Amino acid sequence: MGIHLHLSHLGLLLLLLISFNHAGRQKLVSADETLIRVQCNNADVPPTCVRCLESDPQSQSADKVGIAAIVITCLSDKAGTLSGNMSALASAVHEKEVKSMLQSCEKWLSVAMTRLANATRMLEAGEYDGTNENVVAALVRELDCRQNVEAHNVTVPDGVVYDMRVYEELSEAALRIVDRF
Ligand SMILES: *[C@@H]1O[C@H](CO)[C@@H](O)[C@H](O)[C@H]1NC(C)=O
Ligand SMILES: *[C@@H]1O[C@H](CO)[C@@H](O)[C@H](O)[C@H]1NC(C)=O
Ligand SMILES: *[C@@H]1O[C@H](CO)[C@@H](O)[C@H](O)[C@H]1NC(C)=O
Repeated sequence: MGIHLHLSHLGLLLLLLISFNHAGRQKLVSADETLIRVQCNNADVPPTCVRCLESDPQSQSADKVGIAAIVITCLSDKAGTLSGNMSALASAVHEKEVKSMLQSCEKWLSVAMTRLANATRMLEAGEYDGTNENVVAALVRELDCRQNVEAHNVTVPDGVVYDMRVYEELSEAALRIVDRF
């Protein structure tokens, strides 16, 4: 009888612990999702910002600075993809001027990656002006590239055009998140 009572108490206790833990965890998840939404909300295109953050599970436990760091990582990944795409496009064209323009694009986008690595360093050091300076410097390279591609009437695959727009939207999101620290 005594043991039976104990066991049922234990069962109740476990049940309480489990449901408490469950509720606690749910609360934690929604709090983190709120942080993502709050941080992305001031961006012109919040869904692009949210998509980047949701692609990295670490965003769930990240603070504001961690969230900015993840957006900068998304930027760097995109710059790398775009640089590779420019390289592939350059090797597919024969016209000398266009080829050399696309090769410049490839180079500028890899310079952008270097700038973004510096942005991450600055962010970790709490140098937020320096962080944004480098995000802007990287963005200028990408914008120069797009402007040149457009000026030369080069037909670029839709996926690349789309990624360039995403890059610009993520840059703006990063700048606004860091501005509000
Ligand atoms: C751009 O590069 C990425 C990564 O290498 C590749 O997956 C993608 O298909 C490329 N996009 C186009 C349109 O070639
Ligand atoms: C990183 O950025 C800061 C601020 O823009 C600049 O002073 C510094 O020279 C940069 N360092 C590198 C390695 O590019
Ligand atoms: C690109 O296209 C526009 C309009 O179609 C034309 O006016 C311009 O001369 C073209 N530029 C080049 C570099 O071919």
